[in-house]
Amino acid sequence: MRRPSLPAWAAAALAAQLWLAADAQAAASFDAATRVFRLDGGRVTYAFGVNEAGQLQTLHWGGRLADADPLGPAKSLPSHSSFDLSASITPQEFPAQGGGIFTEVALKIAYADGNRDTVLRYLSHRIERDALTVRLRDVALPLEVSLRYTIDPDTGVVGRSARIENLGSAPLRIDQAASAAYTLAPQDDYRLHHLSGRWAGEWSLQQRPVSEGATVLESRRGSTGQQNTPWFAIDRAGSGGEDNGPVWFGALAWSGSWRISIDKDPLGTVRVVGGFNPYDFAYRLGPGESLDTPVFYAGYSDAGMGGASRLLHRFERDHILPGDGKPRLRPVLYNSWEATEFAVDEAGQMALAEKAARIGVERFVVDDGWFGARNSDKAGLGDWTVNRAKFPDGLKPLIDKVHGLGMEFGLWVEPEMVNPDSDLYRAHPDWVLNFPGRPRTPARNQLVLNLARRDVRDHVLQVLDTLVSDNDIQFLKWDYNRNWSEPGWPQLAPEDQPKVYVEYVRNLYWILAELRRRHPRLEIESCSGGGGRIDLGIMALTDQVWPSDNTDPFDRLSMQDGFSHAYAPAAMMAWVTDSPNWVDRRETSLEYRFLSSMQGALGIGANLNHWQDADFATASRMVAAYKQVRATVQQGDLYRLISPANGSRRSATLSVSPDRRQAVLFAFLHSQSKGMQEPAIRLRGLDPGRRYRIARLGGGALPEAMPAEASGAYWMERGLAVPMRGDFQASGFVLEAK
Ligand code: DGJ
Repeated sequence: MRRPSLPAWAAAALAAQLWLAADAQAAASFDAATRVFRLDGGRVTYAFGVNEAGQLQTLHWGGRLADADPLGPAKSLPSHSSFDLSASITPQEFPAQGGGIFTEVALKIAYADGNRDTVLRYLSHRIERDALTVRLRDVALPLEVSLRYTIDPDTGVVGRSARIENLGSAPLRIDQAASAAYTLAPQDDYRLHHLSGRWAGEWSLQQRPVSEGATVLESRRGSTGQQNTPWFAIDRAGSGGEDNGPVWFGALAWSGSWRISIDKDPLGTVRVVGGFNPYDFAYRLGPGESLDTPVFYAGYSDAGMGGASRLLHRFERDHILPGDGKPRLRPVLYNSWEATEFAVDEAGQMALAEKAARIGVERFVVDDGWFGARNSDKAGLGDWTVNRAKFPDGLKPLIDKVHGLGMEFGLWVEPEMVNPDSDLYRAHPDWVLNFPGRPRTPARNQLVLNLARRDVRDHVLQVLDTLVSDNDIQFLKWDYNRNWSEPGWPQLAPEDQPKVYVEYVRNLYWILAELRRRHPRLEIESCSGGGGRIDLGIMALTDQVWPSDNTDPFDRLSMQDGFSHAYAPAAMMAWVTDSPNWVDRRETSLEYRFLSSMQGALGIGANLNHWQDADFATASRMVAAYKQVRATVQQGDLYRLISPANGSRRSATLSVSPDRRQAVLFAFLHSQSKGMQEPAIRLRGLDPGRRYRIARLGGGALPEAMPAEASGAYWMERGLAVPMRGDFQASGFVLEAK
């Protein structure tokens, strides 16, 4: 698992600064007198102490404190009554099931002799500048837990994970293992934000009070899932909003079954515990063995939900996405799926490629249907050899053609799956997840290969390595179109089989990492029937993600808004497709579709064979305009000016480049009502003292009353009157500093 790290040059510069500034400035520190640990980064301080009972007790997670501020010593809370004991209500960094704890725990262990009690105490620690490891040990048994903490000096995002080690001579069983427990001090008005959805309906932003009782966000599916995403944010109803107030947020870097529970205890303390989902979970640790949890990242902003997502986006670009802190700008992509579905062939793809090149596309991607007996979703999955009826001379003529047109070539794969009607399944029916003698439940006519098996893992790597080595391929769209059923691993002892929840994902990460190591210029997209596998774990190994199969440009506005709360536009693909769109049969103009998709990484998925000259002209103009602003859109600061949620009449976003010299406004009128003129849209994030010239994105005259140039202060105070009338109207503007 990748941990937050700085690019080498920045790490060296930081180390030098810290050296000069003496130890008090170090990002991670320990005060031996009070036994308090502190992590300081950006505008955040995270602190916890060793209390008199030897527990690690949370002291502060919030705004940056002064160096000498008194934080400890930590003192456990007295028992509230004989029903709520001290151990249960004291906010602990890593509470284990034992000693009378009823609040949510991070660890639950069962021993062969029937003991299910674990009580952890501080043992020792190690500090390395912006990282800290604290060892805990059970009061009686040779069980150790090492808690690893990092803090990003720039954003203050904390990363936490745990290693659980069996130092005894008998095996034990881990029934529950979280990465971290984060605690918020009691307040009456905490409000939880999270994202929910379903296939073709991902990224709905939800909000609810944090009240007594637990809210559980989870996936039990073997992968991240569309239904919840492993992210949360908590603000305060009394003072919070998009632009102001404190926000505590977090995201779990894990692409398997996961759980984040948010729970308010009887005294009002809020615990957010996240890690492996305990549902159907068990992990047997033999003597000397250990289990590492994924990293659960957490951050704090005092600038509202907008400030929180800008911090998280920056952290993702700097420390999660491939590219060592400088993720490559996403090329404009064409994908043939919505145009052809399974009916791909050499001539058809070449014709589409020629048309795509005409409008400035930089990467041409052939989707499903190019391999095996894959003429529908009923057969062929698993047989990764080119279908010679469709590509008589293999992929080379098409790839050469695409390259000759000046584009990169990309290919769709779904390597973790198999159709029962395939040569692979006929040869290896035992390679899928299954319980012997039980039905194997198909979904989309396919079964899941058990990637946790070493032979399956090696086979998948070899297939992909051969594909990329034998063909000049720059990009893979890596799909995953179902969740698990019958998660058996019959080759292991029954008590070890649930390890599949961990080992499958580890092997998935291993394959991705190894493939990238062997092919350093290869880029990969994470797709799972849309946004079913998007999280900080997979994003560390893939360059972009496919948020949804729903490409309706109006639906996408609210989905992109939801997505942007957790994940960076730098990785968010958005295609321009046909109108009426297949999802809602909604008709929209080509310009509207472009402006909706230009808020992320632009792709085109329309059937170009149906386009007229005027469409090609519009598309060429919009693609060229996008290339002028994509660095700002993908890697700038995103301001959600007007939310599209809750039936709002209009919506708007603004992206501002890091140097504040360029800003890009996207504005949409969803449905005009009663002839109302919409109020001016006030911008944010500009330099008030600079002058900015404004132009329409994609060309065209400015609205009559709009000044061609004004100060940042003007655009932020007085705003832009964007004259849109009718339904599904869109306007884009670009502001350039003089
Ligand atoms: C689901 C993906 O989300 C689509 O974009 C497409 O690639 C299909 N799978 C192909 O089967």
